[in-house]
Amino acid sequence: MPTEALQFARENQSRFLAELKDLLRIPSISTLPEHRGDVRQAAEVLAAELHRIGLEHVEVIETSGHPMVYADWLHAKGKATCLCYGHYDVQPPDPLEEWISPPFEPTERNGNIYARGAVDDKGQMYMHVKALESMLHVHQGKLPLNVRIILEGEEEVGGEGIAQFVREHPERLRADFALISDTEMFAPDLPTLCVGLRGMIYTEIEARGAATDLHSGMYGGAAPNPFFALCQVLSQLKDARGHILIPGVYDNVVPPSAAELKAWQSLPFSETEFQQKEVGSSALTGEEEYSVLERLWARPTLEIHGMPGGFVGDGAKTVIPAKALAKVSLRLVPDMEPQKIFELYKRYVESICPKGISLDVRLIHSGDAIVIGVNNPYVKAATAALHDVFKKDTVFIRSGGSIPIVGDFERSLKIPSVMMGFGLPDDNLHAPNEKFCIANFHRGIEALIRFFEKLGGEK
Ligand code: BES
Ligand code: MN
Ligand code: MN
Repeated sequence: MPTEALQFARENQSRFLAELKDLLRIPSISTLPEHRGDVRQAAEVLAAELHRIGLEHVEVIETSGHPMVYADWLHAKGKATCLCYGHYDVQPPDPLEEWISPPFEPTERNGNIYARGAVDDKGQMYMHVKALESMLHVHQGKLPLNVRIILEGEEEVGGEGIAQFVREHPERLRADFALISDTEMFAPDLPTLCVGLRGMIYTEIEARGAATDLHSGMYGGAAPNPFFALCQVLSQLKDARGHILIPGVYDNVVPPSAAELKAWQSLPFSETEFQQKEVGSSALTGEEEYSVLERLWARPTLEIHGMPGGFVGDGAKTVIPAKALAKVSLRLVPDMEPQKIFELYKRYVESICPKGISLDVRLIHSGDAIVIGVNNPYVKAATAALHDVFKKDTVFIRSGGSIPIVGDFERSLKIPSVMMGFGLPDDNLHAPNEKFCIANFHRGIEALIRFFEKLGGEK
């Protein structure tokens, strides 16, 4: 027999989805200054919703950047306290012309809801809200366990505000464990807990040559070109076999345990299928001496994201730009330290600077890699809840992505995280046509209710 809360969630599926669509219509793009007001509006809408469903101490907490939303319900004496985390900010939607339906007009197609933020992370964060609503509603405003919920608006830009808050006010988020739904399932219908994330440093290299833009005929051949300088520098950061060339960068890399590697080998994964269906390229690249999953989950990588500057309009303009920029990140694995890696990187980049060029190497944001232990009652309750919903054993995976605050939860709050995500590998995170499988939205809510009820000692 499904519990009352589960029944309530089932009866309210279409309302839950309609409300999610309202949230998805708000373009809360944290990185674009012109969307500041939209980010705040999303925070306020969520605060109002947390209040409406019956949580207490609802607060929009200011940070140096975008606000956070906090609420709690702490009256389950003797029961565990869960810290629910999610982010309501989203990535920019460009390139717009690639979207089949507009990014901020949520649209249903073949069982999915398409919109920027559908799965990352509004749709997944909202599952927490709707699971809590279902339980509060059927139990006259009571929950089976204690809950704090914190939603941030800066995850996609590094999460500095929440990191500072956690460091300065750990008591305000005191809990036994954190619950995060911002990761993926390894395959459709395969219940998954994520137990590791890569860390990162995100950097910019600015190259300057001449004092001003120059006519490339009058000066080309004698004046330094900052784009060419960047090409020379960037080409020395990684070799053709995927090895990062920064001296010392691999010094603290901890390989996965034999048991973890063995478990990864039994995951349903085909490198060819991954290459053809997910990546869609003619070949995969990187360190061939490691399996693809190891390369993605347990090895550092260095990537170039964009090189703004110079002339990028239609047609031709013969110019030697005075400056050029490269956006470069490194994904990190345990035990690489972001600050130390940035120093090694900066020193190396400066040491290979071509003549006539000055380089400014800047750190935009950073976060630690994390691997989480699975030997705790929260993970056990999670796998049991997932089994109830999916009728399958849970697989434990790592992910190559980063959620900067998870490291701080472990280090500052000293609590483990349960990363129970319901995204799918083809959900197009950060890309055009982001989607969330509607069935997973509802199954996620059910799994969360069952998880909370198990921890609260109900059936
Ligand atoms: N939810 C993602 C991270 C993620 C993606 C985890 C897929 C597991 C599977 C998160 O919103 C994200 O995109 N993080 C950024 C962090 C960065 C901007 C600090 C990332 O990984 O690039
Ligand atoms: Mn996310
Ligand atoms: Mn993201």
